[in-house]
Parts: sequence; structure tokens; C-alpha cells
Amino acid sequence: MLRKKIIAGNWKMNKTATETKVLVPEIKDRLGKFDQAEVVICPPFTALQAAQEALGAHSDIALGAQNLHQAAGGAYTGEISAAMLRDLFCRFVILGHSERRQYCAETDALVNEKARVALKASLRPIICVGETLAEREAGHMAQVVTRQTQGSCAGFAEDDWNNVVIAYEPVWAIGTGKTATPAQAQEVHALIRATVSGFAGKTVADKLRIQYGGSVKPDNAQELLNQPDIDGALVGGASLDAASFVAIIKNACA
Ligand code: 13P
Repeated sequence: MLRKKIIAGNWKMNKTATETKVLVPEIKDRLGKFDQAEVVICPPFTALQAAQEALGAHSDIALGAQNLHQAAGGAYTGEISAAMLRDLFCRFVILGHSERRQYCAETDALVNEKARVALKASLRPIICVGETLAEREAGHMAQVVTRQTQGSCAGFAEDDWNNVVIAYEPVWAIGTGKTATPAQAQEVHALIRATVSGFAGKTVADKLRIQYGGSVKPDNAQELLNQPDIDGALVGGASLDAASFVAIIKNACA
């Protein structure tokens, strides 16, 4: 099964709109014309418009957000709806990132609700799962990742799955410089695919793209992305620098 690779940059709470106007053209210039992988950048909400303007129409680079609120609108001070993101030309939205699960108490049920809202609004969710170090050391990795995958992705229609990306991000590898080995990552990616196959069917699972995230750098991207079940990367820190982000994209497709 040929799955087009998808490399996304999660900028987290970094880069002002002013800084974005510098970074995005640099990424564009360094990447050039590129269709070997889908490339996505996910700036903070406040920089989405600047990023969109810098990308221009018909860009090879897609825009994504880092979260949304599940309600269509109303009295939710400080929140952002799916329609607001669509209006800024977002095509993707990261959901259930471990930082949101940890600091904002997001549960699998909430992530699932947000994902359904995203899909209905034609936003493609990048749904994050991954165990903590304590969970891995206690031997609970498989149980945690299976539960998160089943809970966050419950009840999607078969057609919806064409627009879903899952990101495996072991919490212990995020921002720590400690990458999962390709074999460790491959093991969990295969587990996620088997889990999805179990409740959504083999056809869906075979087409599903599963990204790896956690200290992805230019020098480890190729080895990780060469694994049979690793279909992309969700890059944090290294996506804030145009040279390293573009090197990751190119190495991932080498
Ligand atoms: P780092 O690449 O900085 O480890 O972050 C990974 C991540 O959390 C991407 O969503």
C-alpha cells in the first residue's frame, strides 16, 4: 500500500505573526517545488493569517491549526471554532496533543468529539496518541496507546478515515532529544494500525497515515521514515528553523 508521506510542523506556542512573515517565505524558498510528500505547517492561531498570506494561493504547503473548540460558536471566551479555522484556509488541525491532554485535561472522549467536529467542517484531524515514560516503564505502553486510539477515533464513518492522520508521539521523546529508536517506533505504529484494523477494518487501516513525533531531526528522519508503518513526521522544535524543517522533509523522502 503506497501512502503519501505527510510531514507537519507543530510550532506550538512559538512565533509571532511578524516572525511568521519571515519564517514562511524561508521555508517556501528552501523547499521549492515539492510533491513527494504532503507538507503542513501549524502556527499558533494568531499567526495563521500571516502564514496564509505568506504561503499564497495554491501553495504546496498546507496550513493547520493546533486545536479547536468543539462547539460551533457562542459563549466560549478565548476559544476558536472549526468554521473560524476554515475561514483562514486551514486544512488540518492537530488534536489531542499530549501537552493538551496534560495541561488542559483533554480526554479521549473530548478529542473524539473535536475530531468529529473537524471532519464535519472538512478539516483533517491529526490525532495524537502516545504513552508517558512511567506508562512505558510499567509495561503499559500497548494498553495506553490502544485505549487512546480506540477512544479518540471512535465512530468515524469509513469515508471520514480518508481524512484522518494519527500521530504517535511518545511523551518521553517530546522536546527531550530522546528519540524512539526506529524499531521502537515501528512496533507502536504497527500496533496502532492493527488496532484501527480491529475496529474500522483492514481497508481503512491499510490507507491510514501514521506520523511519528518526538525529537525528529534532519539526521534521524530518514531512518524513522524508512520503517514500513511510519508514514510521516510531526515535528516540534526542529520545525521552527527553515533549514532543519526542510532538511527533515527532504531526508524523509530520500
Ligand atoms: P519535538 O520535535 O520538539 O520533540 O516535539 C514533538 C511534538 O510534540 C510535535 O507535536
